[in-house]
Amino acid sequence: MKEVKVTSTVTVYDNMSQLSLIEQTVMKKAIDMLDNVYAPYSEFYVGAAVLTDAGNIYGGCNQENASYPLCMCGERVALYNAGANEPNTPIQVLAIAVHNPKKFIDKPISPCGACRQVISEFAMRHKQDFPILLKGGGEMIYRLESSKELLPFGFDSKYL
Ligand code: THU
Repeated sequence: MKEVKVTSTVTVYDNMSQLSLIEQTVMKKAIDMLDNVYAPYSEFYVGAAVLTDAGNIYGGCNQENASYPLCMCGERVALYNAGANEPNTPIQVLAIAVHNPKKFIDKPISPCGACRQVISEFAMRHKQDFPILLKGGGEMIYRLESSKELLPFGFDSKYL
């Protein structure tokens, strides 16, 4: 028997100005997407933006439904928006911004398990991993270098 330790690394920035200019632009788009959220049930707002290698930015935000299981996360809307518009272009960066009007959450919030799986598929599909930027209600930004930092023991197509 042996124990194997799996670790993740997160880089913590005090604020957005410490990111590269292009990453600041992608995060700004994610923040802008918070205005378009449709979340009347949870009132939990998630905006996201994807920069492709072609230099285009695709936004997304959570889309809820009275039939709760049909709700779709903001980061998945952004990724599928990019995938629908540029099916063959790898992704350069994903930014996710969260706002909870009912409860101030200072620190960045991590994507749900389903979104981690979808993020990993985009990295696999284009054979190119990409950084993920996270922002909560405060100034602080978390930067994960790749999807593997979010989902270290992931399931993927190589097992099929
Ligand atoms: N949500 C996201 O958009 N992304 C996540 O990673 C977690 C949760 C949304 C789904 C739902 O509209 C609301 O937040 C509360 O779960």
